Amino acid sequence: MSGEDPTVNRLEAMVAELLGMEAAVFTCSGTQSNQMGVRTHCLPGDELLIHETGHIANFEAGGAAALSGVTVRGLSGERGLLDVTDLDGKVRANDQHLCRTRLVCLENTTNLGGGAAYPLEQLRRVSAWARSHGLRVHLDGARFFNATVARGYSPADVAACFDTVSICFSKGLGCPMGSILAGSAADITRARRIRKLFGGALRQAGIVAATAIYALENNVARLAEDHRNARRLASLLAQIPGVFIDAGQVETNLVFFEIAPELGTGVQLSAALKDHGVRIGASGGQRVRAVTHLDVTGDDIDEAASVIATCLARGVADRPLVGSGPYAR
Ligand SMILES: Cc1ncc(COP(=O)(O)O)c(C=O)c1O
Repeated sequence: MSGEDPTVNRLEAMVAELLGMEAAVFTCSGTQSNQMGVRTHCLPGDELLIHETGHIANFEAGGAAALSGVTVRGLSGERGLLDVTDLDGKVRANDQHLCRTRLVCLENTTNLGGGAAYPLEQLRRVSAWARSHGLRVHLDGARFFNATVARGYSPADVAACFDTVSICFSKGLGCPMGSILAGSAADITRARRIRKLFGGALRQAGIVAATAIYALENNVARLAEDHRNARRLASLLAQIPGVFIDAGQVETNLVFFEIAPELGTGVQLSAALKDHGVRIGASGGQRVRAVTHLDVTGDDIDEAASVIATCLARGVADRPLVGSGPYAR
């Protein structure tokens, strides 16, 4: 039965309090809690506004359309971030020919935007704009605490800008699984029913909720170390011939860079590095993404940079052009 596991209850209460929101519901994954947010706020035929690189728009298997009948409208903005100037004029008129614009989804930090964290003033601006247009606002906070640690703002100040906030425990916080969706009591009651519908109502989930409680108590402040490691990796990469990176853009734990086309593609570099124990993800064409996290030490950063330099000095164009994952080629 929902609500019977005391550790899950404790986690949900802890997150609601931390965010200054009324309630929270534990979920299996960030995708699940984002899609619960979409379904909570929208009806079939509604439209959500999101950055064109957003996870909800690109990497959730078309869930907004498939699970909630919602149209996704991708907008452009700097580094995966949206501001009022990007959103203004995008709310559709109340007309029977048009879908109803209902929801704005932001990502903090941005994934494909390179780990950029919103300034608090920008969040407040977008939130005030959305509310003045009668729209709901959802935060995809897969890397929520990377943003709060990098920017120094409080979780509650961020959450006050949103109707629902999704946070992942399985990324920088280091848990084996799990995310959470927080919001008003009414929205979370609705989201709980949707979680059941989406097959995510776990029974004895205390064993995983306990890891999330541990992570909230022990693994948040240390994210600053991941950010330092990311900046160090970026500055080492900037010295490698054939690597293109703007090291000054690295704010949190994501390090995107490109390699010169004559050396190979991102998929090929990723395959070559894997053989040397360095895991980085291809992000399409020449672009690759490295992520720092609690299993990566300062020494690992030096080693990774040196392995990347060695692989690129030889070139990786002899590797297969097709890999696996969303950017298979
Ligand atoms: C920004 C963002 N949102 C949501 C998710 C989805 O999380 P999960 O893999 O737990 O479904 C991810 C995963 O990488 C992400 O980067």
